[in-house]
Amino acid sequence: MLFKGLSALALAAVVNAATNVCSEAERTATTDADLANLSGCTTLSGNLILAETLTSATLTGIEQITGNLICSNNSQITSISAPSLNSIGGTFTLNQLTVLATLSFPVLTSVGAINWITLPGVDSLDFNTGVNKCDSVYISDTSLNSLDGINLTTITTLELNNNLNLDDVEMGVTSVSNMLDISFNGNTAVSFPSLQWANNLTFQDVSSISTPSLNTVNSTYQLINNTFTSLQAPNLTSVGGISVESNNKLTNISFPKLKTVGSAGLEIANNTKLTDLSGFPILSSISGALILDGDFVNASFPELTLVRGAVTIESEDDFDCSEFNDMNSSGSIRGNDYKCEAASTTSTSALTSATGSASSSGSVAATTTTAASTSSSATSTSAASANVVSTSGFAFSAVIAALFFGIF
Ligand SMILES: *[C@@H]1O[C@H](CO)[C@@H](O)[C@H](O)[C@H]1NC(C)=O
Ligand SMILES: *[C@@H]1O[C@H](CO)[C@@H](O)[C@H](O)[C@H]1NC(C)=O
Ligand SMILES: *[C@@H]1O[C@H](CO)[C@@H](O)[C@H](O)[C@H]1NC(C)=O
Ligand SMILES: *[C@@H]1O[C@H](CO)[C@@H](O)[C@H](O)[C@H]1NC(C)=O
Ligand SMILES: *[C@@H]1O[C@H](CO)[C@@H](O)[C@H](O)[C@H]1NC(C)=O
Ligand SMILES: *[C@@H]1O[C@H](CO)[C@@H](O)[C@H](O)[C@H]1NC(C)=O
Ligand SMILES: *[C@@H]1O[C@H](CO)[C@@H](O)[C@H](O)[C@H]1NC(C)=O
Ligand SMILES: *[C@@H]1O[C@H](CO)[C@@H](O)[C@H](O)[C@H]1NC(C)=O
Ligand SMILES: *[C@@H]1O[C@H](CO)[C@@H](O)[C@H](O)[C@H]1NC(C)=O
Ligand SMILES: *[C@@H]1O[C@H](CO)[C@@H](O)[C@H](O)[C@H]1NC(C)=O
Ligand SMILES: *[C@@H]1O[C@H](CO)[C@@H](O)[C@H](O)[C@H]1NC(C)=O
Repeated sequence: MLFKGLSALALAAVVNAATNVCSEAERTATTDADLANLSGCTTLSGNLILAETLTSATLTGIEQITGNLICSNNSQITSISAPSLNSIGGTFTLNQLTVLATLSFPVLTSVGAINWITLPGVDSLDFNTGVNKCDSVYISDTSLNSLDGINLTTITTLELNNNLNLDDVEMGVTSVSNMLDISFNGNTAVSFPSLQWANNLTFQDVSSISTPSLNTVNSTYQLINNTFTSLQAPNLTSVGGISVESNNKLTNISFPKLKTVGSAGLEIANNTKLTDLSGFPILSSISGALILDGDFVNASFPELTLVRGAVTIESEDDFDCSEFNDMNSSGSIRGNDYKCEAASTTSTSALTSATGSASSSGSVAATTTTAASTSSSATSTSAASANVVSTSGFAFSAVIAALFFGIF
């Protein structure tokens, strides 16, 4: 209680011999002597900034920092170590430390957030006990080979990008309340054996994915430009939306338990080797759009009885549209636009479909069935055509949203 009052006096340094709590809103260490001066503090109440003048930093004696630990824009620091530090209450920021090679935090277990950017010399973490509690992790542009030393069970956000040596990521995470995004790293092998649900998931440039327990993706699941040959989601029952796009080695997809896709829809596009899209044996409803585009010959969705959004199917191969035509005539497709085009057959319905199909892939059509729909609008049709040609990952949510809202 007493120290709560004292710590409120910003910038007034207080050292208490009995508890070794040092309170200061923010302290900047510019010399080794400044750091040595902190060695009597078991708890540092406030933020600690390691200045650009330090060439190495050892935080001796400190067990806890209640605020942030920050080291930024230092092109000469080679080593940061904290032999007794077990907790950082705020954000652990390391930013633009071009020669940093050693990060030694042997007993660190709990961190508010990790924010590490541009640490080209850091290829491993000397975190012996390992961080097991951290709400939010952002790691970008490091040389890390793995995340050994960080193993969390619940997280809000995990974002890893541009870590070109990151060979594998394996974590015991059970849930992700905001997002997990692993993109543009090396050819990373990703394994989340205990992950049950994530609000949204994005994997790009990944060499394998193992999520045997994944049951729900509440919002969107994006799989773009990955190098795996097989995509298995053995326990996934519901997703808000899925985009499987430009995975050029993919030959097999399997979503054996997926029953519902939400308003962000289902898109499978530009996976050049994927000829069979029949990996959804029990999928029964899609609350958004359905877009299938590629070289496929099979795309059977035996249990699909409801698509609330538009349906756009384009195969550059021999594909039989009759299953989808039947769905359309039986009223299972509720969106304004229905289009199925293949090298063999083309079926299109919408007021403006003539323009839409001419601009997208008129050349593959051998026969064309066109039906006027009474309620379709020019905007929703052009949104559907635009999505077929521009399937960029970042446009995904917006385009699907446009398709979705186009229905109303
Ligand atoms: C140690 O730090 C305290 C608090 O910032 C300061 O008052 C004191 O002068 C410092 N002592 C030395 C030797 O730097
Ligand atoms: C680091 O440097 C960049 C550009 O030189 C600057 O924008 C940024 O504010 C600096 N950050 C800190 C924490 O000093
Ligand atoms: C992560 O921790 C879990 C327990 O929470 C453990 O089962 C798993 O082996 C650990 N994984 C790694 C890669 O250390
Ligand atoms: C993740 O989910 C949130 C909330 O549902 C949403 O606002 C955000 O746009 C999503 N991010 C991505 C990359 O899909
Ligand atoms: C799959 O999900 C169910 C809940 O639907 C759960 O009981 C089961 O343990 C999960 N399987 C795996 C391998 O995690
Ligand atoms: C996501 O779905 C899971 C499983 O249904 C649920 O437990 C969790 O609360 C949901 N999370 C969010 C952020 O909606
Ligand atoms: C796809 O993978 C599933 C699950 O491993 C397997 O049962 C199925 O036979 C595979 N299909 C093809 C065409 O390889
Ligand atoms: C895929 O389509 C071809 C040609 O129509 C057919 O011979 C084959 O049996 C189909 N395969 C599956 C798994 O449905
Ligand atoms: C789709 O269904 C609608 C409503 O039944 C019908 O008017 C239209 O001709 C069908 N379109 C195609 C391409 O079969
Ligand atoms: C399809 O994949 C090829 C090869 O990776 C790429 O060049 C092209 O931009 C992709 N097209 C779309 C629409 O994503
Ligand atoms: C996939 O990777 C290629 C080559 O790296 C890149 O040009 C393309 O934009 C990427 N596609 C997406 C959808 O990110």
